[in-house]
Amino acid sequence: MQTQVLKVNEASLTLAGELFHQGQTVAFPTETVYGLGAWAMSEEGIRRIYEAKGRPSDNPLIVHIAPGFDLTPIVSEVPDTAKTLMDTFWPGPLTLIMPKAETISDHVTGGLSTVAVREPSHPLAMKLMQFTGLPLVAPSANTSGRPSPTTAAHVYEDLNGKIPLILDGGPCSVGLESTIVDCTQDPPMVLRPGAITLEMIRELYPEAVEDPAVKALKTLPKGVVPKAPGMKYRHYAPKGYLVVSDEDAVHFAHWMRQDLEEGKAKRIAVIVSDELKAQILRVYRQERDEKTPGKLLFYPLGSRTDPQKIARTLFADLRRADDEGVTRIYGEAFDRSGLGEAIMNRFYKASAEKRLKGEQA
Ligand code: TXA
Ligand code: MG
Repeated sequence: MQTQVLKVNEASLTLAGELFHQGQTVAFPTETVYGLGAWAMSEEGIRRIYEAKGRPSDNPLIVHIAPGFDLTPIVSEVPDTAKTLMDTFWPGPLTLIMPKAETISDHVTGGLSTVAVREPSHPLAMKLMQFTGLPLVAPSANTSGRPSPTTAAHVYEDLNGKIPLILDGGPCSVGLESTIVDCTQDPPMVLRPGAITLEMIRELYPEAVEDPAVKALKTLPKGVVPKAPGMKYRHYAPKGYLVVSDEDAVHFAHWMRQDLEEGKAKRIAVIVSDELKAQILRVYRQERDEKTPGKLLFYPLGSRTDPQKIARTLFADLRRADDEGVTRIYGEAFDRSGLGEAIMNRFYKASAEKRLKGEQA
């Protein structure tokens, strides 16, 4: 199959509408990551999404709507918490779990009695749904397990030849997938952290909680099963061996030098803040090892003080390591408050190993 990449205009929107009606999939930009869309009522479209992504069938999809869409065919009830959260944060990077309507296929929900719904704020996502009049199921438009796509080029990389159309809307502004909140329980529970942070939700619901599975760093404690089925899979992983650590520059420098000396890698990708980068380079210079830094490929995450930028850049950096054939990658563990919770949830999930202060390696 030939995959077309088109800018969003009347002609490409018309084509997208036709494809949805034929049970086809179309990738489109949202403010979080690119989604692989199908008409939420098309069994064939839903099936094609799972097929194109190679996605496990028990991992349910999010239904996307545009402002003003009727929720009746999607949910059987809008809980009060959901109403309040919608009024406050929609359109935006927030997905709400509600009881599902009969009309929603079990293939959308992976057999669950609930359904995930989100109203994205990206103008092109809205336009697509308003133009076609269709609610769209859309997982992130990556091959299952790879970092989510934040540009049309990322989608092309994974799904070229597997889907007919990618609508190109430039890079995504948030860069991490939406926050998921379960509104079928009281208090509401965050199942996946995102740009709408737990702190923001607690301004409305101080008793709001986070699924304990979100914080679990290594194997999940006995009896802890994530409520969002997708959260149990290793995710976002680059092909190279990624170590994420909260240790200081001296540790990073030591590990990296050792890897190079032992021939574990020829080059190492270093995904750290500007601040840690400067410290690592200082350690090398003090030791008068001028050559080694050339083998360290620093990917720019920006300053620690700008988590928005880190969120926007992280997935692209993980993909870049693959593109450049780097087999060894080091990443910095950031503070988990605010948006840091979502950043670290993804970074740890992507990692092959965590080296944390006060823990055995
Ligand atoms: O930002 C986003 O949410 C992006 C863009 C494209 O909108 N979409 C996205 O979809 O991240 P996906 O399929 O990659 O992740 C959906 C997550 C999965 O972890 C899935 O298990 C969870 O939502 N989910 C879907 N329906 C659910 C339900 N009824 N109950 C609990 N979790 C659910
Ligand atoms: Mg995904």
